[in-house]
Amino acid sequence: MPRTVIAGNWKMHKTSAETRTFIETFLPLVAHVPRDVDIVIAPPFTALAAAHGALRQPARVRLGAQNVHWEPQGAYTGEISIAMLLEHGVDHVIVGHSERRTFNNEVDATVNLKVRALLAHGLTPIVAVGETLDEREAGITDERVIAQTRAALAGLESETLRRVVLAYEPIWAIGTGRNCDPLEAGRVMGAIRGCIDALRDVPILYGGSMKADNVAAYMAQPHINGGLVGGASLDASTFAALVRNATTR
Ligand code: 13P
Repeated sequence: MPRTVIAGNWKMHKTSAETRTFIETFLPLVAHVPRDVDIVIAPPFTALAAAHGALRQPARVRLGAQNVHWEPQGAYTGEISIAMLLEHGVDHVIVGHSERRTFNNEVDATVNLKVRALLAHGLTPIVAVGETLDEREAGITDERVIAQTRAALAGLESETLRRVVLAYEPIWAIGTGRNCDPLEAGRVMGAIRGCIDALRDVPILYGGSMKADNVAAYMAQPHINGGLVGGASLDASTFAALVRNATTR
């Protein structure tokens, strides 16, 4: 069985001070969530140190980053390495988010380089794939997301592949309030899981206008193992309610 993962992608939101305040409020609210559920928050790079300090060890909530460079170091102005993330207790990294594909030249080949580097260092990549509205309307959703998945994971051994987390984020559903119907999301995610044998037990998360009041409908789908949450992860009480609704069995 894939494990359950609920991850908050904060995007370009929250200073270090705001991050500390969030965590102080959030931790008690998720204290009774079953231990087999992975809760992840991915603040901006500048707030990782504050988050690491506030989460305390051993941390109930895991720390994620929103991007990474695949090279260990070098002349890459503005980039962040894996060693820099490890220093701040990061163990998950979002790779291939559609916003980075759109605004920051993220392409399948760089996603693959990042996934390989992360896995080689024992970190968990959260690999995001998803179709545009045009692609959906053209009837090529499955083809697109399968191509993105295969490209992201190209050249990896089955044993290594079992350590990834995937996220299906239909681009038209991100930040729009127009969430994908859970049944349809589950269908696409089943197609993603089916495209490589080693993905059988890999968590696949849904992302795109996921909220506390719709998360249970997603979690009821067999191929949906959690969420990658944007807007609804920014407020501690709202995100805690989402996590609890996702994990009430
Ligand atoms: P929203 O939950 O704001 O739609 O964002 C989803 C997302 O992009 C998470 O990575």
